Amino acid sequence: MSQSMRTTYCGLVTEALMGQTVTLCGWVNRRRDHGGVIFVDLRDREGYVQVVCDPDRPEMFKAAEGLRNEFCIQVKGVVRARPAGTTNDNLKSGKIEVLCHELVVLNPSVTPPFQLDDENLSETTRLMHRVLDLRRPYMQKNLMLRYKVTMEVRKFMDANGFIDIETPMLTKSTPEGARDYLVPSRVHDGMFFALPQSPQLFKQLLMVSGFDRYYQITKCFRDEDLRADRQPEFTQIDVETSFMKEEEIRTMFEGMIRSTFQNVLGIDIGAFPVMQHADAMRLYGSDKPDLRVKLEFTELTDVMKDVDFKVFSGPANAEDGRVVGLRVPSGGEMSRGEIDGYTEFVKIYGAKGLAWIKVNEVAKGREGLQSPIVKNLHDRAIAEILKRTGAQDGDLVFFGADKAKVVNDAIGALRVKVGHSEFGKSKGLIEGQWKPLWVVDFPMFEFDEDAQRWNAVHHPFTSPKDGHEDWLETDPGRCLAKAYDAVLNGIELGGGSVRIHREDVQSKVFRALKIGPEEAQAKFGFLLDALQYGAPPHGGIAIGLDRFVMLMTGAESLRDVIAFPKTQRAQDLLTQAPGPVDEKQLRELHIRLRNPQGA
Ligand code: AMO
Ligand code: AMP
Repeated sequence: MSQSMRTTYCGLVTEALMGQTVTLCGWVNRRRDHGGVIFVDLRDREGYVQVVCDPDRPEMFKAAEGLRNEFCIQVKGVVRARPAGTTNDNLKSGKIEVLCHELVVLNPSVTPPFQLDDENLSETTRLMHRVLDLRRPYMQKNLMLRYKVTMEVRKFMDANGFIDIETPMLTKSTPEGARDYLVPSRVHDGMFFALPQSPQLFKQLLMVSGFDRYYQITKCFRDEDLRADRQPEFTQIDVETSFMKEEEIRTMFEGMIRSTFQNVLGIDIGAFPVMQHADAMRLYGSDKPDLRVKLEFTELTDVMKDVDFKVFSGPANAEDGRVVGLRVPSGGEMSRGEIDGYTEFVKIYGAKGLAWIKVNEVAKGREGLQSPIVKNLHDRAIAEILKRTGAQDGDLVFFGADKAKVVNDAIGALRVKVGHSEFGKSKGLIEGQWKPLWVVDFPMFEFDEDAQRWNAVHHPFTSPKDGHEDWLETDPGRCLAKAYDAVLNGIELGGGSVRIHREDVQSKVFRALKIGPEEAQAKFGFLLDALQYGAPPHGGIAIGLDRFVMLMTGAESLRDVIAFPKTQRAQDLLTQAPGPVDEKQLRELHIRLRNPQGA
């Protein structure tokens, strides 16, 4: 009778198996020689177990002496208690060890380029040797959690009548606002497919086809500037539904996010408050505010119009200018060094400086303040600053004055930075572990100064709010959209909208975007045509799976929750992609390189 290669996982051997013979397979994490006895920490997907090799079985012992890190081995032995004082409470298998009877080297390993439990590996090393990096318990845990999340999501979708339908990867450009990844066609000289930035158009078509509820866990491709929370190739939990209102869609997918947290981590992240986009910008300068941080902006634009301080009065009088204060309770304790550090920090976001006032004694008015700028502010401005910020003795108020976008970006980032600093933590400026919210009522359009035209904030298929259609052509800046983002801890987890289901409204939106009928027909004719055949009211959402899992694991980068990610420079260090291709392939694709040396 053939025997199984193993009877259980290393990480699952516990007291329950005491006295039994087990057969384990795994990798040598470490071999330790202790005066005649060899200990092997054996590792597999489920964790570690300690294997003890005694010299009284000479053949086995000799094999144990030859073990090196990352050898793949099979061990047969008896589970016994560890001697008193040598138990390890951090391991599931920490109370036991396996006394080795037989040891088989299934495959030796060359010396690994690094010690797997080294905590200080550079990311370049990790990504170049991703196969070994993925053996580390940290990465194993992250990817297993990712799998649990997708399982929960699929269960939820199934229970709610959503069906998984695949959409093409070789397709036409989809308008999510990033650059496309293009694939040249061999068959059609000079023609290109685009990889989808999202399944947006196809899922809308599926609604017109009557599938009612669609979902897909699928790859999307966007050639854009990368950050820790952006990958060129990422995964969306993509959803579309017919005959559901905006609130119903939000309620359903809030339920999905909450139940996934509950079922995977056992955590209730709580109900999502709903915040208007305009309020988020007013109070936090961000459309994805981190609500764990308790600091808020104070609007001061109107107060600063007639002060003698150009730094403030300039932006206060400019059409697109803004002046805000950010009150930091107990901020008076900050050192000059800290304030200078923050001044440098806001410059990353284009701010020219960072004015501040330390409030020593509110009751003394001007005399109670310490600041390089109070001399430039009239009494009424000072009184308004104190009143509106509600500053108390010992507080500090930072100021941002510039174009609204610069102020929002700079002071918005400062708010998060101060909140998350050691100082912020010690003063209770940050609170709670999970702070979700919906940001709703986004504007339909934003003005692109460089191109001097309106762009869609979400995408051009997003429906305007009821009653806002009339402004599409007369006052686009005033139009709000039936668009919503799910935000968690300052990260945009997902976004969606109710779509336009009428061709006449869609045409108006194209006109506002200066997309002419011919261009519209050429780019999205297939969608416009479909809308004419009794398209149902429909809408949906896409949740970034990578970001979802990143938040759940507490990882700092998407790269830690993706098996084979790309670097910040959009390269795969493991396979060395992208790479050159040979002349023959290029010729078949009808392509001649402009810089053949890759210059
Ligand atoms: P949107 O462009 O907002 O909407 O994308 C939805 C979600 O996808 C995630 N995401 C990313 N994750 C990692 N790397 C990236 N480069 C990246 N880009 C986006 C984010 C984001 O919230 N078709 C619409 C959805 C809809 O309207 O239904 C769409 O793609 O978590
Ligand atoms: P200055 O008059 O340039 O010496 O600036 C006086 C104070 O205002 C300094 O603390 C600067 O950091 C700050 N400051 C300068 N420009 C801005 C700005 N655009 N927004 C906020 N503070 C600023």
